[in-house]
Amino acid sequence: MTTLTIMPAGTTIEAQPGTSLLDAIKAAGAQIMSKCSGKGECGACHLYVLEGRKSLSKTQRVENEKLDTIVGVSSKSRLACQTKLGEEPVTVELLSFV
Ligand code: FES
Repeated sequence: MTTLTIMPAGTTIEAQPGTSLLDAIKAAGAQIMSKCSGKGECGACHLYVLEGRKSLSKTQRVENEKLDTIVGVSSKSRLACQTKLGEEPVTVELLSFV
């Protein structure tokens, strides 16, 4: 298990490596948008990874192409539905609320 911290609320949960950030955030009871059911098409699950970025799954083409279309993207940006947890603790910042 690894630790996921969700800002700005500061919620911390234990999650299985290989779990998508979207699923882990939902399991934690936090509000995150996902209009395309996690297909990497809507961009609504865009968030910032504050810590632990290197342990996450690598960005794939679908995610990169979608991120290119989103306003406010930075080097910390990931799509929660396309990003899987690794073995290291991760801290993310949610950018939108339902
Ligand atoms: S839920 Fe649509 S891009 Fe992640």
